[in-house]
Amino acid sequence: MSISSLSKLPEIEKSACLALWALFLESRKKNSIYYDKKLNEMIDKLSCYFPKINYTSNYVLEIASRKELIKEVISKFINKNENSIIINLGCGLDNYFDRLNTTNVFWFDIDLSGVINLKKKFFRESDNYKLISKSIFDFSWLNKIPKNKKTLVLIEGLLPYFEEKDVKMLIDKIISNFPDSELIIHVISHLFYWYRSLSKISNNLKWSISNKKCVLKIFPDLKILKEYFIYDCHVERMSILKRILRLFPCYRKQNILLHLKSK
Ligand SMILES: C[S@@+](CC[C@H](N)C(=O)[O-])C[C@H]1O[C@@H](n2cnc3c(N)ncnc32)[C@H](O)[C@@H]1O
Repeated sequence: MSISSLSKLPEIEKSACLALWALFLESRKKNSIYYDKKLNEMIDKLSCYFPKINYTSNYVLEIASRKELIKEVISKFINKNENSIIINLGCGLDNYFDRLNTTNVFWFDIDLSGVINLKKKFFRESDNYKLISKSIFDFSWLNKIPKNKKTLVLIEGLLPYFEEKDVKMLIDKIISNFPDSELIIHVISHLFYWYRSLSKISNNLKWSISNKKCVLKIFPDLKILKEYFIYDCHVERMSILKRILRLFPCYRKQNILLHLKSK
């Protein structure tokens, strides 16, 4: 696929660019919390295709905070589990593998063909890094991953786009194939769902939760190792309005990362 055909990608695959643009805006700030040496090259080649959306500073900070938090959790996992496997489902244009700068892991990035073809223009596969072009619901991707190692599955910025029954089917499949696995899933509250449904960004969401208890009800085979609220990160950089709104728990707890483990 040539880069110019990015404009022909289906909307769902184009959503991979949303985070990239936000991260670029963050990286240009003086007090940026995000650095990625690959970012400028990708933006140079792709910027003319980005959706013309006016990102707010809060949105840019939210994406960068999420990425940094996830990188930190993954880094701890890798330090504890040598030669483990990390699977990033719906990886988009994420660059965690490069940014973690480690050979102590076997990393699998999985996404639809348009995004993977695009990613291949910027990232080279190696013994430690593989790009898999498949729908996450085409479970033949499971056959491409070794099952004899400690495994962490990351699903970020994706589950809210699917119906609860599909989310359940996917997670159940992961747990049955990787019984000794951990997961990091990005979930949103009903408030976040409602608010984003009104905006131009991510207005095709389908799944949200009321609280972590309801996640455990849907996935009785999982336990929660830790719950992270994205709006607890870099509060000093938030607008005054957001800082005030954060005082309400339902606002603060709407954008969530759950670190889970199979029981
Ligand atoms: C909003 S982006 C999130 C990208 C990245 N994980 C992040 O959080 O920044 C959603 C990604 O999921 C991918 N995606 C959507 N449906 C998918 C499916 N059925 N199988 C694999 N990837 C899918 C899209 O192509 C896109 O790259």
